[in-house]
Order: sequence, then structure tokens, then C-alpha cells
Amino acid sequence: MSGTRPDPTPADDEVRMEVHDPDPAGADAARVAADRAIADQALIDDVPDEAVVEPRPVRQRDPDEPALLDVRGLKTHFHTRSGVVQAVDGVDLSVQRGEVLGVVGESGCGKSVTALSIMGLVPYPGKVEAGTVTFDDQDLTGLSNRQMSRLRGDRLSMIFQQPGSALNPVHRAGRQIEEVYELHRDYDDEEQTRRAADMLRQVGIPDPERRARAYPHELSGGMAQRVMIAMALACQPDLLIADEPTTALDVTIQAQILDLMRDLVAESGTAVVLITHDLGVVAEMADRVAVMYAGQVVEEADVITLFEDPKHPYTRGLIGSMPVLGDRREALETIPGVVPNLVDPPVGCRFADRCHARVEHDLSICTEQDPELLPVVETDGDAHVVRCFLHHDAEGRPRAVEGGSTPADVVTAPAELAPGEGP
Ligand SMILES: Nc1ncnc2c1ncn2[C@@H]1O[C@H](COP(=O)(O)OP(=O)(O)O)[C@@H](O)[C@H]1O
Ligand code: SF4
Ligand SMILES: [Mg+2]
Repeated sequence: MSGTRPDPTPADDEVRMEVHDPDPAGADAARVAADRAIADQALIDDVPDEAVVEPRPVRQRDPDEPALLDVRGLKTHFHTRSGVVQAVDGVDLSVQRGEVLGVVGESGCGKSVTALSIMGLVPYPGKVEAGTVTFDDQDLTGLSNRQMSRLRGDRLSMIFQQPGSALNPVHRAGRQIEEVYELHRDYDDEEQTRRAADMLRQVGIPDPERRARAYPHELSGGMAQRVMIAMALACQPDLLIADEPTTALDVTIQAQILDLMRDLVAESGTAVVLITHDLGVVAEMADRVAVMYAGQVVEEADVITLFEDPKHPYTRGLIGSMPVLGDRREALETIPGVVPNLVDPPVGCRFADRCHARVEHDLSICTEQDPELLPVVETDGDAHVVRCFLHHDAEGRPRAVEGGSTPADVVTAPAELAPGEGP
């Protein structure tokens, strides 16, 4: 959430680099370590000691504007020896130009598989089984690999959690950005080199001409993540999918990378799908939020509504488990239980065995019928949608919840639920 950033801790950052990065052997190691420390210190020095995150404007959705990306009924399954993993099972999402959509949920909810499905990068033995991914009026699920490769890196880009999965270890940082131009633009060599250095400068890398000659192992985690962002934004994509872009970084570098992404995206008008398990990141970055649970979207709303008036018991549980500045709680609230096995998901609502509200309101329908993702208020279009029988009856008609549960009510385990199995 917005608030005062922690003090920069250069010493911690240097320790982290030692722990996480491959340690190059030989006499070069000391030079590389010293180089990284100097460069990272320069990044850290950028942050004023008492930097305060300004309240940011939240972009309101224009109901008449067509979506840039519209995902409907997406199903992606993995055909494994132990059965069919229904990793993504009927996901609906939409993003307008210039909008930041946060996608949140516990680990294993299908966030990454949703992203890979949109990008046409689902690995074997996975397969997009159903649904449409409409990008600028074109269904991507119908495109060939060749047509998708033309879009990827140009109009559609993705940033991964681990830069290692996107950076080629045998190519210098600058070269990797030049390659993006080689694939998608007609620039000559000189122009490629100039633009690559310019991108490195834009993502805040000090001395970009020199850094362009560094290999990935010579870069710290934060620096490598900046190079990946530079690659992803090199062609000014219409849509950027960022999958846990800061999870592997320490808190100071994380704040810088988020600031950087926000600035670059605001300048270029790029739409973003920001995937994270961290609601704090969503609160800082997103205009809208989709909450995923067990391969489905269970609630979607603008960021303010989602935090102020969450409807789904899972969303309420997630928000209830967030630490609150100045709130002296003895322990964090957690949601009892775990995400169900996606090889054989339960009949009815997938959250049922963890849901206190179901017990409290004596809703037998929850274990008999699948709830649909429907508007909270009939007249509301898709402004705030929720998948829960607390808010709709069996025919999908909105209903008022008598004595609506508070987040704290929902996350307190009743006797009927297995206690002490929180994530
Ligand atoms: N290559 C794969 N083979 C089999 N199952 C997979 C594979 N990749 C992901 N899954 C399964 O798909 C589900 C969703 O995974 P994922 O999208 O990575 O979750 P998240 O990103 O939300 O943590 C999980 O149950 C996971 O085990
Ligand atoms: S549909 Fe029923 S079990 Fe599912 S979240 Fe709503 S109340 Fe709980
Ligand atoms: Mg993931």
C-alpha cells in the first residue's frame, strides 16, 4: 500500500547479490562483484532517504471504449500422467488501452498459465482447450506460431519473474535489445545500438553504453530485471504482461522497479496485465483488479472498490490477511485450507471447503452448482463482477446479503472447517 518506503539498505542488497547470482569463478569475480555493487549503489542513491509514495490517480474505465485485450472462457489444461490439470478453467478478463489490470491470487491459482495462454507460450503438455483471446479485434488463439512470434516483442510483451528465463546468458545486455529491433524494426546496426543504449538509459541504468557490453551474469538481479523491462518495452508494445516482476527482488529495488514501470507505462500508454500474489503491489499499481482462485476469476472491480467493498469471501480473506500500517494485530488473519487439487476440482464453488460464509449463511447450493461470474448490481455492466452465491441466486439474479460478512468474519475458521491450515 502507499506509505513511507523503507530506508535503502545497500549492505543487504550486496548480500542478496552474493546469494542469488551465479558466482563467476576466477579473478574476474572480484571485479564483477565490485562493479555490480557500484552500479547498484547508484540505483539506490536515486531514492531520497524519506521518499514517500504520492497518492496516484486511478484511471477510470470508459464503458464505451472497446477492450484492447478481451479473454473469454479461456481453458488451459495440462495432460499429465496423474490426470488432466485444469489450470485455467473459464477465465474472463479484459483490459483497455492504458489500463493496468492487476491479477492476484495465491500460488497455483493459474495466474502464470493465463499469461502464457495469452502469449501463445503454454508449454507441453499444456493446451488451450477453449475460449478466445481477442487482442485488438483479432483472436490470438487462431494464429500460427509464426504470426504470434511477429506480435510478441512488438505489440505484445512479457516480463517474467526471473530475468534468467528471458535473458540469453551468452549475449551482452545491449545485444539482447538490439535483437528485438532486428526482429521487428528496419533499423541499421548503428541505429539499433543507439536505441538499445537509449532504452537502458530510460530504465535507469547508469552508464548505459558500458552496461550494454555486460553479460547477464555481471548484472545484479535489479539490473537484469531493468534490462528485461528495456527489452519488453523496446518496441513500445500495446500490451505488457508482467508476471511477478518484482517478487525475486529485495524491497528497495522492488519499489524502484514498480515506480519505473508506472512511469514508462504512463508515458507510452501501454496497457499492462500485472500478475502478483502481493496485494500491496496491486494497490500501488493497478487501476482494476481481477482476483483468481483455482483457475477461475472470482471477482473483478476497480482497485478502490475492490479494497473498500470486496464481495467474494476469498477476496475478503486476502484483504483480511494483509498487514495494516499502525494496526497492532497479534497475528495476521489467514484463510484456512489450501487451493483444491486442479486434477479433480470439487463440484460447485471451488472455494467452498474454505468458506466460512457458506456455513454462516447455510448455502447448500455452493457444493451443488458452479457459481458464475456476474455483475454485483444488475445495471452495473462488468464494472464489479463476482462469482458467489452470496450475491446471486441459482438463476444468477443478484441478491442482497443479510448482515453481510466482514472480512474478519470470513477468515475466522468455524468449527466445520479444518483449522490451522492457512497458507
Ligand atoms: N507444465 C506444467 N505441467 C503440469 N501442471 C502445470 C504446469 N504448469 C503449471 N501447472 C499447474 O497449473 C496450475 C496453475 O499454475 P500457475 O499458473 O503457475 O499458478 P500461479 O502462477 O497462480 O502460481 C498449478 O496447479 C500448476 O501445478
Ligand atoms: S459460492 Fe458459496 S462457497 Fe463459494 S465463495 Fe460464495 S458463499 Fe462461499
Ligand atoms: Mg506464477
